[in-house]
Amino acid sequence: MAQTWNPGSWRDKPILQVPAYPDADALRTAEARLASFPPLVFAGEARKLKASLARVAEGEAFLLQGGDCAESFAEHGADNIRDFFRVFLQMAVVLTFGAQQPVVKVGRIAGQFAKPRSSDNETKDGVTLPSYRGDIINGIEFDEASRIPNPERQIMAYRQSAATLNLLRAFAQGGYANLDNVHQWMLGFVKDSPQAERYRKLADRISETMDFMKAIGIESESHPSLRETDFFTSHEALLLGYEEAMTRVDSTSGDWYATSGHMIWIGDRTRQADHAHLEYCRGIKNPIGLKCGPSLQPDDLLGLIDLLNPANEPGRLTLIARFGHDKVADHLPKLIRAVEKEGRKVVWSCDPMHGNTITLNNYKTRPFERVLSEVESFFQIHRAEGTHPGGIHIEMTGKNVTECTGGARAVSAEDLSDRYHTHCDPRLNADQALELAFLVAERMKGGRDDQTKKAVNG
Ligand code: TRP
Ligand code: MN
Repeated sequence: MAQTWNPGSWRDKPILQVPAYPDADALRTAEARLASFPPLVFAGEARKLKASLARVAEGEAFLLQGGDCAESFAEHGADNIRDFFRVFLQMAVVLTFGAQQPVVKVGRIAGQFAKPRSSDNETKDGVTLPSYRGDIINGIEFDEASRIPNPERQIMAYRQSAATLNLLRAFAQGGYANLDNVHQWMLGFVKDSPQAERYRKLADRISETMDFMKAIGIESESHPSLRETDFFTSHEALLLGYEEAMTRVDSTSGDWYATSGHMIWIGDRTRQADHAHLEYCRGIKNPIGLKCGPSLQPDDLLGLIDLLNPANEPGRLTLIARFGHDKVADHLPKLIRAVEKEGRKVVWSCDPMHGNTITLNNYKTRPFERVLSEVESFFQIHRAEGTHPGGIHIEMTGKNVTECTGGARAVSAEDLSDRYHTHCDPRLNADQALELAFLVAERMKGGRDDQTKKAVNG
């Protein structure tokens, strides 16, 4: 495997989930244009994220990663981005407060466009067309023209990512994320939200603390850490032609970086050791995520870790467990033990979404109880193994959608049709996302109290 790597060396490997572009010249032209465009993120930022994730790997911080299953061209607007960011900040505050640890904030956003599909084709009423593979590849409408992969969409996805990232940077650094605004993030939140009251209480405590600090001379004007936050972007690196075109040498280190986002991950369907997606990801220096599903055996995992993180650099690799509420206890412990035995430094994160998808009334949905239950098990297992439950990875939106059932304001199977807007998998709505954050914060706090007890009682 010690062959030389270059941004295009994945092209010599077997590959799954490739769109059938009808016009190879048009594809090459689009990729060449992308390669001439400015990077979306730069190497220094990716290194900063890696350093933050290294702290997660050491058990000193928590990773919050979330956003759309699939971003869409149609829903690209300021309100969507703001609503997402607002709930994300609320979750981050809840977690920071509960865990008493820094929260590393990574969105599934500004590049999350390509979707792996279980089947190449979709049949409706006797008509068979290519499956929808995400807006960066083809259109979701069920007609022939939309479903033909179009390389121009890669240019559109790049431009949308740039615009989204621009607004997110402005929000993160330009005042919106100021902790003086904890109450404002609640504005526009659904009025009868069961989480609203809970959040308001926490925001009161934070405001009080801010007032106290102001009184003793520590205020946001003079302390950037109170008024700004580091927000990073991530997506699944599925469409490798696009990723290759966005891969650049960092002039300060001479290393290759993916500049399509700060962190990229490898999906559970495309993580074969000798395949293209592994080949591409092993050569870039960004933080990498690896989705771990039920078919992953401990030895295979160790092999993948060797390929992706041969130097055992903490922060380089995040293992994103997505087993399902009823399977996590069977699969996660043996993977944790294998990793611990070999002394590999990784971040363990829990994706409680992808193993819990069911169909109800013809809608793909996820019962919120199962999402919570997988997270609970994830925490329990890590406590039992003595390892750090490092983070969560979720599909969520700032909107009041009805895509996952359950939650404190129960969405029923019949409600699903009301506001079911996702382009792919069902997402947690704002309320459910916040409820999950409160649960995780409690578990983090519980773990901390246990450790304190242990320390005190010997
Ligand atoms: N800079 C700190 C952080 O990012 C504190 C902070 C500022 C913060 N604004 C925030 C935390 C918004 C959560 C949400 O953690
Ligand atoms: Mn998904």
